[in-house]
Amino acid sequence: MGAGIAEVLARGGLPVVGIEISPEALDRGRGHLEKSTGRAVKRGKLTPEAQREILDRIALSTDFGDLGDCDLVIEAVPERLDLKRQVFARLDEVCRADAVLATNTSSLSVTEIAVATNRPTKIVGVHFFNPAPVMRLVEVITTVLTEPTAVAGVADLVTKLGKTPVTVGDRAGFVANRLLFGYLNQATAMLENGHATRDDIDAAMTAGGGLPMGPFTLMDLIGLDTCLGVLEAVYAESRDRRHAPSPLLRELVTAGLLGRKTGRGFYAYDGSADEAAAESGPAPAVAVVGEVAGITGDADPAAADLVVLGAGAELPDGVKPDAVIAVAAEGPVTARAVATGRPGDVVGLRVPEPDRPLAELTVTALTLPATADRAAALLAGLGRTAVRCRDRAGAIVDALRFPYLNDAAAMLGAGYADADAIDAAMTLGCGYPTGPVADLDRLGPRRAVEVLTALYEESREPALAPAPVLVEHAAAGRGLR
Ligand code: CAA
Repeated sequence: MGAGIAEVLARGGLPVVGIEISPEALDRGRGHLEKSTGRAVKRGKLTPEAQREILDRIALSTDFGDLGDCDLVIEAVPERLDLKRQVFARLDEVCRADAVLATNTSSLSVTEIAVATNRPTKIVGVHFFNPAPVMRLVEVITTVLTEPTAVAGVADLVTKLGKTPVTVGDRAGFVANRLLFGYLNQATAMLENGHATRDDIDAAMTAGGGLPMGPFTLMDLIGLDTCLGVLEAVYAESRDRRHAPSPLLRELVTAGLLGRKTGRGFYAYDGSADEAAAESGPAPAVAVVGEVAGITGDADPAAADLVVLGAGAELPDGVKPDAVIAVAAEGPVTARAVATGRPGDVVGLRVPEPDRPLAELTVTALTLPATADRAAALLAGLGRTAVRCRDRAGAIVDALRFPYLNDAAAMLGAGYADADAIDAAMTLGCGYPTGPVADLDRLGPRRAVEVLTALYEESREPALAPAPVLVEHAAAGRGLR
């Protein structure tokens, strides 16, 4: 990330000294800078002259002594406290006494870094998000030792660079990672326990959750070693087992499969083609019995390829033997599948956001494999992105987003951060279309309490019990803001 941060500073017109550990590492950093700014030139966002000016502002060196004149130094070495403390000890020696020293740590304690220096009042965290030149959030972390002028100076600089600073206290994961990584870890657990495939989980969160990237694509971008480090640090503080790194993540890291940077993580980046999406046939004849948000169809149930049963609707007589029956429901559908008398032909159907293209198909223990395949093709014929998962509360999207929304509500209730900071963290730091507090107000605290209660009753996971602040607002019938 050091190269990305250097680029941000140089784009802001500041002279930058970039330090690397070896000439080889320096070459890699130079390569990153050229590639990233070159991409902007190719897209017509930067002229070749402006690119040269930006690159000329960055002096690359392996000598810490070159930092002697700097007003601010931002450290971005790997996430190991011992290594960070060594680097800060060296910075303390070579930097001017009035220089502010900052760490770009994702999750380590800024206070523990600060107390290892002779200038703990001048140590702050400046946490950029991947890719640094693009993401607009910077978390500015203040410790109980940091002097207010150091924090204000860094926040001012961040604003001048065209980014949005959010000042937060020194807690593991700060705001964004604390919310993001519970979700990423839960997605990994879902994959590991066979609830759904990698591609279906990623597709669900983009097509249904509206996110710019699915969780596995994002973890590969961040780096799986960084993900593991963040989870370990957050778990050490939260002692919430949802933050205990998934064994699959640890295995990939042990195997050296760290994501994009090593050419393979959850995905392979060797240019091999991805699996083809479900084949979509001609537009199917659809009959909808009752009301189903997001799905329309007025075919005669006796002639339909797909018969969709709304809440409480029963299977009409005469449905073709090769028709697929989709039971629309908020929760598991196995009991209703059995009640149709032909459960092998039944899948559950959920459209978590009618305005978005996703349809989730829940496959019960009785659904025939051919039924699930046909259902996916029929939904594709309706122009929907169909994903499959087991018949569990929340399917994929709600099972992943409501625990995250609950965490955000708990954060708000505990005074950890305010609503603006929480929403800015997720929209500007992680590209979410809306922040969690806004999401909760859109979806409604009552719905959140219902979904979380179902998730809690299924898993008995204490952290999935609705946060008191949600219960309170659901009872009061008003949003969180
Ligand atoms: N470096 C520099 N610029 C990049 C880039 C990179 N690696 N990747 C994309 N870009 C630029 C492109 O040049 C393009 O710029 P313009 O709009 O100026 O032309 C812009 O980003 C959009 O790129 P694309 O159109 O190619 O791709 P996209 O629309 O799919 O967006 C994305 C890519 C911005 C990365 C988007 O997918 C996104 O927002 N993803 C979520 C990223 C995220 O969550 N980051 C936070 C991770 S957590 C973290 O980093 C903290 C931590 O401590 C671990």
